[in-house]
Amino acid sequence: MKSILDYETVALVDDDDAIEIIDQTLLPGRIEIIRLHTAKEIWDAIYLLQVRGAPAIGVTAGFGLYLLMKHSKALVYDEFMKELREKSDYLNSSRPTAVNLSWALKRMEEHVKNVTKDGSSFDIDEVIKEMREESERIKAEDIDVCRRIGENGLTLIKDGDGLLTHCNAGQLATCKYGTATAPMYLAHEKGWNIKVYCDETRPLLQGARLTAFELHSAGIDTTLLCDNMSASLMKTGAVNAIFVGCDRVAANGDAANKIGTSMVATVAKRYNVPFYVCAPTSTIDINTPTGDQINIEQRKPEEVTEMWYSERMAPEGVKVYNPAFDVTDNELITGIVTEYGVLRAPYDKAIRELFEKKK
Ligand code: MRU
Repeated sequence: MKSILDYETVALVDDDDAIEIIDQTLLPGRIEIIRLHTAKEIWDAIYLLQVRGAPAIGVTAGFGLYLLMKHSKALVYDEFMKELREKSDYLNSSRPTAVNLSWALKRMEEHVKNVTKDGSSFDIDEVIKEMREESERIKAEDIDVCRRIGENGLTLIKDGDGLLTHCNAGQLATCKYGTATAPMYLAHEKGWNIKVYCDETRPLLQGARLTAFELHSAGIDTTLLCDNMSASLMKTGAVNAIFVGCDRVAANGDAANKIGTSMVATVAKRYNVPFYVCAPTSTIDINTPTGDQINIEQRKPEEVTEMWYSERMAPEGVKVYNPAFDVTDNELITGIVTEYGVLRAPYDKAIRELFEKKK
């Protein structure tokens, strides 16, 4: 039988007239594949978390911009670019925290500027073909980057380890392997006996519905726990290392990830458990100096008060605090695992050097 890992997280289909995704809001109960055609459908799919996870959102945005511009009637470069920026701004407004969204859209725009030499050699058919190739490159690079994060993460663990993760930074959040789960998949490929603990991740349960689902489907020894149980688990000594993903790493190494991550990091420090943030360099935002400048998405109260229950579980009218992400202070992070290696504190220096080398 086909496993969840056999499906593509995001793909261009239908003669490039649609983006195909797994509707992640229905998992694990139902694997339903949906097709997105219009700007509104793409925006909604990102906002509603039918496709989610920083890298997968970036890939969807890249495909989305190509697909929407494919039907452009613009005759000249300036007109084309005006339309492209409007569509890009619209897609970018779907979620604020994951930098991969704006990163992918900006990359698509820059590519158009480069191939047209800033408009001096504008041929719309050629530009559209280039946009298609660039969006496919973003996807292919995501797979390669995740694999390399997995290889670098693997150097931090050993056979028999217990590993904890929060939210879903798995294959469903990327195009393959995931980021935080990549070392786990590679360890499993090597025949190592690892045990993975998944925080359920309130309020939207990405840990329970997605991470536990994909790791369990892969045959990895998987244990689910509620978010408020990880301190008691760490106290037993069962957790040798923690791997989480992230939505944006600031230039000083502060890392925004799913709400609850900073609590896990704080507890990990108390129990001396190494805490690793897995981050493709596309998730590092050198233009954001510290975590204080990261825009944290606030989501609707009903996610806390009503979702998943057959009856409402909170009094009508009660105020709700529902940030979707938090920022883990860099001093709580043992290492940032990138496709280029594991960065260590001081992170401002390590990040600066990495970006200089990449240039
Ligand atoms: O709200 P979500 O489900 O998009 O949040 C996802 C996370 O917080 C992930 O850990 C992060 O995007 C990294 S995915 C490789």
